[in-house]
This record gives sequence, C-alpha cells and structure tokens, in this order.
Amino acid sequence: MQKKWWQEEIVYQIYPKSFCDSNGDGIGDINGIISKLDYLKNLGVTMLWICPIFQSPMDDNGYDISNYFALAPEFGSMEELRNLVKLAKEKGIKIILDLVINHTSDEHEWFQEALKDPNSKYHDFYIFKSGTEVPNNWRSMFGGSVWEKVEGRDEFYYHSFGKKQPDLNWENKEVRETLYQMVNQWLDFGIAGFRVDAITFIKKDLTFQSREADGVDGLVKCTKTSRNQPGIETFLRELKEQTFQKHDCVTVAEAPGVQYEELEDFIGEDGYFSMIFDFKHADLDIASGSEWFKRIPWTIKDLRDRLMTSQLAIQKVGWSANFIENHDQPRATSKYLLDQEANLDAVKTLGAMYFFLRGTPFIYQGQELGMRNFTRSGIEEFNDISSIDQYYRSIEEGCTEEEALHYINLRSRDNARTPFPWKNTENAGFSSGKPWLKVTEHYSEINANDQVQNPDSIYHFYRHLIDLRQNSDFKECLIYGDIIPLETQCQDVIAYIRKTEKETIGCYFSFSKEVQKELLPAEVSEIVLSTKTAIYKEKEVSLAPFQTFMAVIK
Ligand code: GLC
Ligand code: CA
Repeated sequence: MQKKWWQEEIVYQIYPKSFCDSNGDGIGDINGIISKLDYLKNLGVTMLWICPIFQSPMDDNGYDISNYFALAPEFGSMEELRNLVKLAKEKGIKIILDLVINHTSDEHEWFQEALKDPNSKYHDFYIFKSGTEVPNNWRSMFGGSVWEKVEGRDEFYYHSFGKKQPDLNWENKEVRETLYQMVNQWLDFGIAGFRVDAITFIKKDLTFQSREADGVDGLVKCTKTSRNQPGIETFLRELKEQTFQKHDCVTVAEAPGVQYEELEDFIGEDGYFSMIFDFKHADLDIASGSEWFKRIPWTIKDLRDRLMTSQLAIQKVGWSANFIENHDQPRATSKYLLDQEANLDAVKTLGAMYFFLRGTPFIYQGQELGMRNFTRSGIEEFNDISSIDQYYRSIEEGCTEEEALHYINLRSRDNARTPFPWKNTENAGFSSGKPWLKVTEHYSEINANDQVQNPDSIYHFYRHLIDLRQNSDFKECLIYGDIIPLETQCQDVIAYIRKTEKETIGCYFSFSKEVQKELLPAEVSEIVLSTKTAIYKEKEVSLAPFQTFMAVIK
C-alpha cells in the first residue's frame, strides 16, 4: 500500500478521568494531561487518543454526550484544550479525539426537545415507536431492552447501549448533515483525527421484528439486529466523503461485527476509515463482549491463530491498529499472562509480541507500567455500568453471587479505569483529593516514578520498543515490512517474520515456562532485540522462559 503518515505514529490512549488530576477534585483533567506531556514525550509516543471530554452527565463516563461543542467542566475549558493541542504539537505529539455519533446523552438538547414536543423536528433525530407494548425483544449492550418508555406518553425510544444513551436516527438526512458539520468543525480546530466510537451500530434492521431469544430474559443481543446491518455502507461512505476525506486526518474505527471479507470496504485504499480495531484476540476468553459469564478456555496457540488470521486479512487490503488493552478491556497482563501477570519477563514479551505486529501500535495508559487487574470484594465497589449489568445478568443466568463477582473482577472495564499510579504516595500521586474511583492496590509496587528511575522497568522496555521502531536502522522493516507467521515447535511460542525486499527480521516470543528450541528460517546476522542472553547456532535458537528474541536473518 501507499505510505501514509499515520503508519509511523505510536498512539497512547488517555482515559482523561483517570490520568492526572491537576486541581484536587479527584477527577483527571486537561491540565493534568498537560502536566504529563514530558512524561509522554520521553516515552516516545507521537499521538494521543483522548477518550470523550465533551459535556456529559457521565453515565457512561463521557460516552454519553450532551453537547458536542462544549467540554465537560470537570475536564477543563476550551482554552485549556487549545493549549493542550498547541503544547503537544510543540513536542511533536498529535491529538485525536473520540467521536461518539451513534448516540447522544438523553440530556442532549435535541433529545430533550424530542421529549418535550413529539412534533418538533428533533423527534425524528432519534428512534421512537408508539404503542403501549415494548416494540420487540432486542437486548441492549448494557442490559435490558433496547426500548425505554417515554414518561407520560405511549411511546418508547431506542438505545443500543445504556438507557441514558438514545441512538440517533441515521436515516434522517438532517441528523447526518448536522453531525458532519460538527465533525468538520472539530477537524478545523486542529486535531489530527478521530477514534470513532461504536460506528457499526448506526444502521438498524428497520423491520424491528423480534428474534429468537438467546437468554433466560427472553431477549436477543442487539448485535444481531443493529450492528453492521446491510445499508450501513451508504452512511459510512457519506460520512467519509463529507468529513474525513476533506482533511488529511486519521480515523480509527471501533467497528465490531465487520467480517474479514468486508475489510476492503472499511480500510482498503478507498475505505471508510484509516484503520479499524479487530477485537477477535481481545475477546478470546469470553463467548461475546456482552457475555462475560460465558468463559471460554483458550491457549497461547489460540491467541497466536487469532492474531495471525487478523494480520493476514488486514495485510491484504490495508493497515492494522494493534492493541492489547483499552478502556473497555481488563489489563492485558492479567488477561493473557494469568499466573504470570507479575512476571516482568512475561510482561515484556507480551508487549514486544503485539508491538511489532504490522500496523500502528496503540498503548493504553498504564500498560507501559505493566499494570494489573484489581480484585474487588463486592458489587458496590464497581462504577462501570456494564460490570453492574453483567453481574446481575450472570445471576439471572444461574451463576452464584460469588461466581458473578469473579467474572466481573476478571472482565470489568473498571480494571483499566483505575487512577494512573504516578508515585508511591497517597492516592498514587494521581490526585491530592479523593479519587473518583479507588486506586489499584499495587501502586507501591507499580508506579511511574519508580519505573522511570529503573532502567530494567517495563516503562523503559516500552521506551526501547518505541525507539527501535521509530529511530533504529531496522525502522523500515519494523514499520513497513510484510508479516509472515511462522510455525513453531512449541505451542507456547509465537513467531513471525517481518520482511522487506532488503531485510528479514525473525521475531520469537516465548510464553513457555521451560527452555524451548525453535528453528530459524535462516541464520542470524544481527540481533535486533533479545531480553535474555541470545543463544543460537546455525538455524536454531534456544529461548529462555518468556524470552523475546528478534534478529535479522540471512
Ligand atoms: C464503545 C466505547 C465504550 C462505550 C460504548 C458506548 O464501545 O469504547 O466505552 O461504553 O462504545 O458508547
Ligand atoms: Ca480535576
């Protein structure tokens, strides 16, 4: 594919509420981000994705926007955002924002007008059905029916996510045009692009017919009826043509439900987006993103297969957005490394393994410290609406309270949302006040301050990964090289080749507790990265437990 500027970025995702609190109210804010720009610059990241910072009642922590043109006052002012964009730019860091246009908050003025007056044009900005019976049996992503009764009227409105997140009616041209205008206005503000939220939900099955139930609640997941539905292509093409295409911006879409055969339309040369996130490896431990209680056993080989299938499918048509964590996922250390979550060799190898896949690497805040999940002892300790729903739903489906708690501890989105541990001081140095969400108990052991001072830390390892990809002699191959999966002797070793016309780099990542011998396709000519003493002879490498070994081969 033709080279694009965003292929050379390293993206760092910030969950603003939990990153750094500058004024002691317990909530992270824009000035907090500004105060950490040097930290981010030193790490080496080149672009920040900041989760929603717009005005919002925060029912879903900002993914419920009540005004697209105002910021949530707890995060800061427009002036402060302008300042952040400017100061970041001076350090060579671009900013992308979260674009949430499948739904708004129920407190958005449009929805309020729609409620007040069914004859107002805003009524058709959302999806309403009149009647006294719930229109169908679709289940929302955060539990219960997708339909919520309008108070005082025989009418229901539709929400794919929480009931405070009514879906916009994309069938209405005026809705689309209003959104496009807003998108363009933000691009003119000087941001580099967007992460596009839940975009495959914008088209619904317009028959709105009930389907066969898939739970004891008699409901059916709305992913079957309102995710990536036929006809969505018209909206996505128009969105791109009316907005993104007019700017040299980057777009990374959260687009669950897209099949590999459709990738060309989404991220091909003329696709709707620059990249999309593929969640197949992220959800390998559960039946689906909204069924945490249906646990699936998996192996490193399954992880490898999912990643490689994805890489090869994407390589055919475009560019990948590589991640192992985000604000909706548990910590990667706990999820993928299980009893080895605190083994620093394993944490490093997990980091390197995904980092050198073909695509743009995304790092979620705290991942660069090797943060781990927490264990909470009661449902009242959770904030995330999805965790609360999953807890009660598991019990409804027959789990004990203990099991339900276990499942949400493993999967809660709060795992990623705990305040960032800056220091080994009270509240982990995140805030001088009481943090909005309890800090993880590990901060005396895992915090930025200690790791910055320790050259063997996970932080310095990530710094080194970034430096290798961005500044070393291997840059061309590590960024643009093709990826070719390698078969391994041991099922706990993941291996692939990165290859340009000029160079081939063999990459081996051992998740085995034993020493493993693996075959090399050719002899080693130069070591690129080895986390333990490199032991190789002719076409064989010997890998210590949890070792990363990368070498130019000839
Ligand atoms: C996306 C976001 C998630 C949010 C949901 C609804 O999945 O990543 O955090 O809850 O959309 O906006
Ligand atoms: Ca604050």
